[in-house]
Amino acid sequence: MNQDLVIAIDGPSASGKGTVAQLVAERLGFAYLDSGALYRLTALAALQQGVAWTDEVAVAQVATELDVAFVGERILLASADVALAIRAEEIGSGASQVAALPMVRAALLQRQREFLTAQGLVADGRDMGSVVFPSAKLKVFLSASAQVRAERRYKQLIGRGEEADLALITADLQSRDDRDRQRAVAPLAQSADAFLLETSNMNVETAVAQILDWWQLKR
Ligand code: DC
Repeated sequence: MNQDLVIAIDGPSASGKGTVAQLVAERLGFAYLDSGALYRLTALAALQQGVAWTDEVAVAQVATELDVAFVGERILLASADVALAIRAEEIGSGASQVAALPMVRAALLQRQREFLTAQGLVADGRDMGSVVFPSAKLKVFLSASAQVRAERRYKQLIGRGEEADLALITADLQSRDDRDRQRAVAPLAQSADAFLLETSNMNVETAVAQILDWWQLKR
């Protein structure tokens, strides 16, 4: 698979990479892969089917059979729009748990690679540059301090009219980070060939512009 038109953007939860990656894709006319959504969808589908998030074989089966379609802003799971439901904190935590299971990661690998089309792809996740698209032309590791990320997540929840507790969010992010970094398969880590983009004191536009600059240099 030729990965000359792939930009891999990895980083921890709530680092803002989703927003940045989508804008980069839009500017370049590339497709966009939100790989975290696939882990979230797997966690939600397992919950709906009464499958425990710890049951590796059964969750991998759920992942293999996921009936999902990304249609603009909508994310359809068996024809129901679950774009909002998969953003719930509980599903985020479930996603982090099922993502630690090797069979689940293997089940989702090919599905992720199928997002690559001739027009190009911006892929966002934890292991885009290390596992899914190891030959991506440009790899970016987008990070921000835990405090800044917790504040961003807090504002996002309040903005949606949901209740939010900054201390709880910080603790939850910390445990999710630990799980994502310490798992045995495809842990979250900056690859040696990835450019580091530290966004704690950077707005979205500046981050997008930096990635577009790097992309021009790589071409
Ligand atoms: O990016 P996100 O918060 O939507 O991701 C949800 C969970 O899925 C996160 O805890 C880690 C996991 N994940 C992963 O292990 N590998 C990916 N490529 C993307 C997400």
